[in-house]
Amino acid sequence: MKLTYYGHSCFGVEVDGTHLLFDPFITPNPKAAAIDVTKIPADYIFVSHGHVDHLADVVDIAKRTGATLISNWEIVEWFGKQGLEKMHPMNLGGAKEFPFGRVKMTAATHSSSMPDGSYGGNPAGFLVETKLGHFYYSGDTALTRNMKLIGDSACLKFAVLCIGDNFTMGPEDAARAADFLEVKDVLGVHYDTFPPIEIDKKQAVRDFADRQVNLHLLEIGASKDF
Ligand code: NI
Ligand code: MN
Repeated sequence: MKLTYYGHSCFGVEVDGTHLLFDPFITPNPKAAAIDVTKIPADYIFVSHGHVDHLADVVDIAKRTGATLISNWEIVEWFGKQGLEKMHPMNLGGAKEFPFGRVKMTAATHSSSMPDGSYGGNPAGFLVETKLGHFYYSGDTALTRNMKLIGDSACLKFAVLCIGDNFTMGPEDAARAADFLEVKDVLGVHYDTFPPIEIDKKQAVRDFADRQVNLHLLEIGASKDF
């Protein structure tokens, strides 16, 4: 599986020719100015929760690519009012088979309101199980023992975890999450985009290394095979 990082919490995973895109927030992110949003491929777009730093570019990318939006019921309803038609609603704890694999919507401990202030349902993460391996994206969340349930039930090739602190887990808690998840390779996201989530990256790598976990911090636009 080839993962490409687009800045903040946005990343794409290519699974056997199918492009999965998570939490697109590119055009408002000055750190991602080098990314051409009109070139990002997507067959499915996942949105973890209603905050604008996770969905700013959904409508444009979905309309250009014809991708299917996968998110919670309330977020799907909200995008329906913006003219999106190809959507699949889920809710916490539910799993569904798609052509590329099985998706389970997992609990996140955070908040979720839409950019216009309307209710954004419950914040979530995603466990994605494919023929080429399984991965987990935490969304924005605090550390919770619930993550142990994911580690117990799925053998993960990699996880994508928020590490920016202040609004979500910081590096120390995210490293503990990696222990709960029993995963050895983690892509860190949701850090350095804004001043409140600037972190000491060298220390973050050490926090993970203390638990024998590799923390990967990709340059925006860079790719990595997992
Ligand atoms: Ni958020
Ligand atoms: Mn966020």
